[in-house]
Amino acid sequence: MNLVLLGPPGAGKGTQAERLAEEFELPHVASGDLFRENLKNKTELGLLANRYIAEGELVPDDVTIAMIRDRIKRPEYENGVILDGFPRTLAQAEGLKEILTGLGRTLDGVLYIAVPDEELVHRLSGRRICRRCQTPYHIQFKPPQKQGVCDTCGANIYQRDDDKPETVRARLEVYHQQTSPLIDFYRQYGLLTEVDGSGDIETVNSALSEVVRSLMK
Ligand code: AP5
Repeated sequence: MNLVLLGPPGAGKGTQAERLAEEFELPHVASGDLFRENLKNKTELGLLANRYIAEGELVPDDVTIAMIRDRIKRPEYENGVILDGFPRTLAQAEGLKEILTGLGRTLDGVLYIAVPDEELVHRLSGRRICRRCQTPYHIQFKPPQKQGVCDTCGANIYQRDDDKPETVRARLEVYHQQTSPLIDFYRQYGLLTEVDGSGDIETVNSALSEVVRSLMK
């Protein structure tokens, strides 16, 4: 089962990918997490990506496609993967098709989490992230049990620089211009299912689980 979670910044892709990964025993790959991991390790890729991330822009397609290709060809992904944050442009969608075809696989479904912009700004401004395992929290909607500490691994949690209001606005603009065309792109191939992402985390999770279960039949 190869799935894509599509949606604007703050829609809940990371939050839901984590739950679906556990429920369906499918590994989860988040392009944003891979870039941040590279930045933490000060790799050339991380330093390059950070120039774009800091401005709310997309990292160039060739670099991003190569990073994802390199990751999902690993043996731990041979039974399937949940992709979060990739693809984000039409060129990346073509790149994904080529990667999967090369591995003798196909894309089974695209789960589009739809949330209005006003709600996204509220979610992103209150988001906090674990410095080690990247689990997302929210100061109001999903606080950690102990303030400032990750429930999963015990590391510190922090606010991402690109969750500051000016950068959030730039990210939303980039999403509408470059990523939202993927909704119609995947719809025309009958791969897209839209889920209302404006409910609470549990409600959205139930809706997504139901879609994945039906794709598995
Ligand atoms: P990335 O890390 O992928 O950021 P994003 O897509 O902007 O998505 P987010 O992580 O901001 O949001 P999310 O949908 O995962 O929401 P979350 O679950 O955390 O990318 C960062 C940057 O890297 C990009 O700007 C770009 O520069 C670069 N990049 C990444 N991929 C790229 C690519 N393919 N090509 C080029 N460049 C790329 O939830 C958000 C908050 O809301 C959390 O606090 C959460 O607790 C809360 N929340 C979640 N669901 C709910 C709910 N139902 N109700 C209330 N609160 C909720």
